Amino acid sequence: MVVASAPAKVILFGEHFVVEDKFAIAAAINLRAKVFADFNDSNFISISSDINSPNTIKIPINMIISGDIHRYSPSITPLLLILHEFSSKHHLLDRGIDISIKSEIPMGAGLGSSAAVFVAFSAAILKLYNVKFNLYDVIELASKGESLAHGKPSGIDATISAFGGILLYRRSQGFNRLNVKFNAPIILGITPEHRSTADMVNKVLKLKYKYPSIFNLIYDANDKIVEEAINALISSDINRLGELLNISHGLLSSLGISTLNLERLIYAARNAGAYGAKVTGAGGGGAIIAISNESTVSSILKAINDNGGKAIISYISDYGVNVDECSN
Ligand code: PMV
Repeated sequence: MVVASAPAKVILFGEHFVVEDKFAIAAAINLRAKVFADFNDSNFISISSDINSPNTIKIPINMIISGDIHRYSPSITPLLLILHEFSSKHHLLDRGIDISIKSEIPMGAGLGSSAAVFVAFSAAILKLYNVKFNLYDVIELASKGESLAHGKPSGIDATISAFGGILLYRRSQGFNRLNVKFNAPIILGITPEHRSTADMVNKVLKLKYKYPSIFNLIYDANDKIVEEAINALISSDINRLGELLNISHGLLSSLGISTLNLERLIYAARNAGAYGAKVTGAGGGGAIIAISNESTVSSILKAINDNGGKAIISYISDYGVNVDECSN
């Protein structure tokens, strides 16, 4: 049996701007998705998942090979597309597989839950078939799933999930690892709203195309914030980093991606002592991040929970995708 795991991410700066080739800083956090995979003696791929609600589906291998995969639910189709791409490229999909997916990452909250599943899933399949691969191969495969799930992804989610740590990312240039230590807690506040990344990205782009001269200035301001944030990270200046998170949130709010629930959590976290707080990911609901020192963590967690959010404490993780063989 093979087991692969990959981390969730937070975007510290630059979500949405990154879609239009501006800079973003993303960090992997210590919540992970796990994929277990083993051959079985049938002609079926069986996928069971504890995401949303526990369920199992069985798909004949020949349907995956031929690409006849679009009759399945939107949560399963991207996984089948990854298998189809794998089979087209490597011509190896010749045995049944039992696949089980378990994730501790809140779904649809801007924390890269789907990318983490796709990255772990891709790595598990490559390893199970003993294909020689590197992290770029994993990202390439996982990105097929991301494209189907999200329309026009910048690629930042799959990249950070595969590599871990803190990355400076630009669509046209790829990424640079920021070799900085950031040990302070990152508090997540999740709102109950459901939204789609693709819808939020389209909403922002529509507004940008309507007001190009205003939006060009806002987009340039993002890159200035990122520049300052790199310096703050290098000098471990958490106070400055918090202020920059607040400024970044102001910009993101001007793109129209904040909601009353997100604002409530952001102000609750700031008032409870956070250095700074902002929406993370696509917005329209989903998650906020707040940075703080250890002494204010419990009051920030309480403030988020008291204001209708689900608070989770997380830390940046250097560990990207990991894959191992193990006995059952
Ligand atoms: O899917 P989310 O909520 O993690 O958002 C991803 C970040 C965006 O910049 C909004 C989209 C993208 O593809 O980069």
